[in-house]
Amino acid sequence: MAHDLVIVANRLPVDRVKGPDGKTTWRRSPGGLVSAIEPVMRAHDGVWVGWPGGTEQRLKPFKDDGLALVPLSMTAEEIEEHYEGFSNGTLWPLYHDVVAKPEFHREWWDTYVKVNRRFAEKAADLAAKGATVWVHDYQLQLVPQMLRELRPDLRIGFYLHIPFPPAELFQQLPWRRQILEGLLGADLVGFQLPGAAQNFIRLVRQRVGHKTHRDLVYLPDGRTVRAAAFPISIDAAGFQEMAESEAVTERAAAIREALGNPKKIFLGIDRLDYTKGIYARLRAFGELISDGRLTVDDAVFVQVAVPSRERVEHYRNLRDDIERLVGRLNGDLGRIGRPAISYLHTSYPREEMAALYRAADVMVVTPYRDGMNLVAKEYVACRIHEDGALVLSEFAGAADELRQAWLVNPYDMNGMKAALLEAYEAEPKELARRMKAMRKQIAQHDVKAWADSFMTELEDEGNNHRKTLRP
Ligand code: F6P
Repeated sequence: MAHDLVIVANRLPVDRVKGPDGKTTWRRSPGGLVSAIEPVMRAHDGVWVGWPGGTEQRLKPFKDDGLALVPLSMTAEEIEEHYEGFSNGTLWPLYHDVVAKPEFHREWWDTYVKVNRRFAEKAADLAAKGATVWVHDYQLQLVPQMLRELRPDLRIGFYLHIPFPPAELFQQLPWRRQILEGLLGADLVGFQLPGAAQNFIRLVRQRVGHKTHRDLVYLPDGRTVRAAAFPISIDAAGFQEMAESEAVTERAAAIREALGNPKKIFLGIDRLDYTKGIYARLRAFGELISDGRLTVDDAVFVQVAVPSRERVEHYRNLRDDIERLVGRLNGDLGRIGRPAISYLHTSYPREEMAALYRAADVMVVTPYRDGMNLVAKEYVACRIHEDGALVLSEFAGAADELRQAWLVNPYDMNGMKAALLEAYEAEPKELARRMKAMRKQIAQHDVKAWADSFMTELEDEGNNHRKTLRP
């Protein structure tokens, strides 16, 4: 069947997982991308092409919770070289300020090209004449150009969910020109922040030699490509409604109770990723206790670390480092029934997250670099009583919008300690002033507004492109 909207993302919104009993089931995939796209899919009755996790080769298209899903399989070698290798060992650290050292391997690149081609061919098969195809994220940056070659009739949008680095870093990539040309297959290339779009335009001018003016690239064949910022968001009303429910309200009280009803609860919820700054923030909290500024009777830090990319070496090392630190802090600072850190290595359904957000007095989001960070926005949406403090890294995209958070430089340990303490001690009036302003921002700029503005822009750009197709 041909579809008018095709979403192409590395992952499907559900993951195929094997239980201890050997049975396979579907589980919601981690990360912000899935939460953002799902409502768009529902609104446009689209089809979603993605990898279902694992190496199963014979999966058929299916429906899950009303969503039409088309699984694309990867072999063990492709997972190693495309997903763990080029996507998460090369591009991920390179695009996140080289927080870890990116590795450049020619076999990884070859497999990245091969897997991108498979996604492009599948999208070309599924799209109706003149359909819209929306390609997502850094794992699939070659798809727009490949798809354009196969199907010049399509309207193609690309959205990058992670940062796009400055030229000085991007230039390290041996395949920089191919990536830029891959993205230029789209009519519209969307980024989280205006700075990222500017980085892209500048690189296209310098490295590919195309003429550019403001946010437009002029290609030799007469086509134009627009690069602009579309800061992603969340289903703010949905989160608020969930936070208000009786079940979540009761669960939040039960969480506080289980933690021994401390005066204040600090909370961190992140994929276990080295870009997120989990280690440094726990150290900062630990130091506040050992300095005597906080006590374990008054405060506890709940850190949820969602398992992620567990076969990649950097991630395995990070887990070991964090868990050693948690053990040391609890051993040195905790008392019976009063640990300093309550650490959970697991992923939770949205209701449990909403309950944690409601239970927490200080939300701590301190990445070294982050495209947006939807956890910060989810916390704000769940603070229905306009209380609670958000401590937020300046280097998260969300800091552009959530100006009333306690903004911190995650590399500055003393600065981070001071902000944690200020947030802990803030008066209710001050908390309300800040939270009110942030809630207004999130309510007005939700995920629906994000998707609508991208789709509307794409329609306009696509129409321009069509004009150039006419004789
Ligand atoms: O938003 C960044 C992102 O890498 C998404 O592309 C991805 O779906 C999510 O984080 C989770 O990562 P992964 O798919 O590697 O588990």
